[in-house]
Amino acid sequence: MKEATPQTIYLKDYTPFGWQVDSVHLTFKLAPEATRVTSRIRFTPDPAAPAQDFFLHGEELTLIRAAVDGVAVTPEVTPEGLRCAVPNGPFLWEAEVEIAPASNTALEGLYMSNGMYCTQCEAEGFRKITYYPDRPDVMSVFTVRIEGAEPVKLSNGNPGASGDGFAEWHDPWPKPAYLFALVAGDLVNHPDSFTTMSGRQVELNIWVRPGDEGKCAWGMESLKKSMTWDEEVYGREYDLDIFNIVAVDDFNMGAMENKGLNVFNSSAVLASPETSTDANFERIEAIIAHEYFHNWTGNRITCRDWFQLCLKEGLTVFRDSQFTSDMRSAEVKRISDVIDLRARQFPEDQGPLSHPVRPESFQEINNFYTATVYEKGAEVIGMLKRLVGDEAYAKALDLYFARHDGQACTIEDWLRVFEDTTGRDLSQFKRWYSQSGTPHLKVAESYADGSYTLTFTQHTPPTPGQSDKAPQVLPIAVGLLNPNGDEVVPTTVLEMTEAEQSFTFEGLAAKPVPSILRGFSAPVVLDRSSSPEERAFLLAHDTDAFNRWEANRDLAREGLVAMITEGAAPDEAWLDGLQKVIADEALDPAFRALMMGGPSQSELAQVLHGRGITPDPEAIWTASETLRDAKARRWAGLLPRLADEAAVTAPFSPDAEQAGKRALGGAVLSLQTRIDGGAAAEAQFKAADNMTLQLTALSCLVSAGRDEAALGVFERQWSGDRLVMDKWFALQIAATTPDKAVERAEALTRHPAFDMKNPNRFRATLGGLAMHHAGFHRRDGAGYRLLADWLIRLDAVNPQTTARMCTVFQTWKRYDPDRQALIRAELERIAARPGLSRDVTEMVTRMLS
Ligand code: BES
Ligand code: ZN
Repeated sequence: MKEATPQTIYLKDYTPFGWQVDSVHLTFKLAPEATRVTSRIRFTPDPAAPAQDFFLHGEELTLIRAAVDGVAVTPEVTPEGLRCAVPNGPFLWEAEVEIAPASNTALEGLYMSNGMYCTQCEAEGFRKITYYPDRPDVMSVFTVRIEGAEPVKLSNGNPGASGDGFAEWHDPWPKPAYLFALVAGDLVNHPDSFTTMSGRQVELNIWVRPGDEGKCAWGMESLKKSMTWDEEVYGREYDLDIFNIVAVDDFNMGAMENKGLNVFNSSAVLASPETSTDANFERIEAIIAHEYFHNWTGNRITCRDWFQLCLKEGLTVFRDSQFTSDMRSAEVKRISDVIDLRARQFPEDQGPLSHPVRPESFQEINNFYTATVYEKGAEVIGMLKRLVGDEAYAKALDLYFARHDGQACTIEDWLRVFEDTTGRDLSQFKRWYSQSGTPHLKVAESYADGSYTLTFTQHTPPTPGQSDKAPQVLPIAVGLLNPNGDEVVPTTVLEMTEAEQSFTFEGLAAKPVPSILRGFSAPVVLDRSSSPEERAFLLAHDTDAFNRWEANRDLAREGLVAMITEGAAPDEAWLDGLQKVIADEALDPAFRALMMGGPSQSELAQVLHGRGITPDPEAIWTASETLRDAKARRWAGLLPRLADEAAVTAPFSPDAEQAGKRALGGAVLSLQTRIDGGAAAEAQFKAADNMTLQLTALSCLVSAGRDEAALGVFERQWSGDRLVMDKWFALQIAATTPDKAVERAEALTRHPAFDMKNPNRFRATLGGLAMHHAGFHRRDGAGYRLLADWLIRLDAVNPQTTARMCTVFQTWKRYDPDRQALIRAELERIAARPGLSRDVTEMVTRMLS
């Protein structure tokens, strides 16, 4: 395991590697405890690079032999790599190392999952396979030979010779080592093919364990849609003869874009109507697209160094969200993305882990695959597109691909293609990449003689390491409505660049109602205390679906805050106004389902904290429950009609239309359960022929406390299906009452099917607990203690997943002194563990500082 080292890497220290790698030949002789990896690598000195020692990364490798130009050498080996004397000119490096994939529980490098060999090399896992300059700016052409009895042996690129016990692969596209992949095992494939826009035939395969063949069709559909979309929208064509996807049960992340050989967490690719929810289908579609899109944004054009991670991830998230918007409802996708941004990125940016979209330093790069790099990184691209316009965006992207194909690039390169196509100066815009924290935007308005002025002020609170903030460029999309509800000024983008700035609209017959930040045009906190009447007006009349949803969310939030802090009753007038929207059959059921939900309890805690009020998780829970009860009572007459409307009679399809209906049906059932105690849920549970209906019903039964029988039935039905059992673990914690969440999670860790080595199962159980706001934040600290116990255990097995899960403590300073003391004690207990990984050490230190 990597030892905790306090070493910090800085962006400003970047230096190019001293050699070019002309070619890489790798041979793998597979064996679970003693795999031999032989490398033959041709190096040529790079005259442009500064003089340096010849250093190759390598971790947890046993060096068997090494040679330079055929002559044996004895390099100086350290835990991080090796140094060796080499000739002044080009030379051939050869090495043989031994590794033990079967004992690799960290799931980085070459490891085993259910008897199958697989690799995960991003970000710095290749150094656990062989000695190599493991950095993204070193790109080379790889040829791979795999020897072993496994029937299926895959690597990147196109297949070469194969025969008894061996298979060869050649990838003609130069790539960094983090995109290397190898898979070998007893696998079966779901085959298909695709003809690219220039008429090339590409063989497509999804490889799975025997038994999972029936769960590949949706992934394959999604892949073909992604390939077509990238051709049509970005003009990007696939560039190999074959594209392989492999499903792996033990995987730290969702999926990985290795060139020509994407490796997926089985939860992110396997799907069937009986075992997968609509949300699963939608996620699979998006994640297949995301990894496929990386072929151009990440693989053909990669990152110079890991500080530039948002260059590929922010852009690829932006592209996959465009794809989902095109495949489904753009409005619903935008609302869902903003919900996610506020739930994951805002807490990060407003807490101790805040960092810029392009960080300036790190200790462990795995800790920077964050919501800020990904989701805020994608928001920044959305703002750029809004500012330059769709046409200029398309031109800039064409230039990006033309200019930088085959290169390892920086954010400067990215912004320059926009400057060169538009003539704009993006130096101020670049602050979005360097300045951390969420800007707060205040609005004042004035109206006189037909002239209406909006005055905006922006302010970004200080974040760790950054006390003085400069104004950001904010595209503020605004529309104006007449008091009668007509739109008088359609969506207009105001470009704010100053700390305070006014914009005037002329020729208005009456004082308009503004609809500000339409489509959530900038990732800011809009501090606008408008009246409930104005919000209700926008809820009824706004033409912008996002702001309609937002007006309702503002009303819901203010109502809940009043309930929590003043003991107010639920706002019946608001519920009546909302009922009209929910009842409106002209609106998309998916949108109406979103309108029925409220802000999450964690988000309410953040809101209260932002207003200087210490959040009490129990009070937040109670208020949220009271509000749901009030909705159920107030809308009781409407619910049966909505349930009818939501019923799907056609054969199951995971498309947006059916999924929207089921989402509405689910929201209705959860309210109905508050009235009938679970009778309707029980009927739905018994009759369900797809996982969405079955799981919503089970969730309702658990929250109604009528779950004993149903949980048992479900477990017996699905005990053979790993992915469904993950849902069973997560759901019974998520849907229970705060007093039971910790005990349930604890009991589940003793269930025979609990396996801490499987990240999905660990996340379902302990992550499930952390997601239960009031349950996790139980006053006596039992939730914190249980989680910390398990994080300590998991760190010795899998530091990367442990470090990710530690972030659930990042909001600890929101809470009261007693809870803070309890959390601090747990963080300090973790920090004090001897042999704690570098990953977790960095996270815990940042959260405590
Ligand atoms: N390149 C990442 C996978 C990755 C992340 C590897 C962290 C190593 C460390 C991949 O493209 C990715 O971003 N996957 C996401 C899903 C995506 C839809 C945002 C994931 O795995 O969660
Ligand atoms: Zn990605």
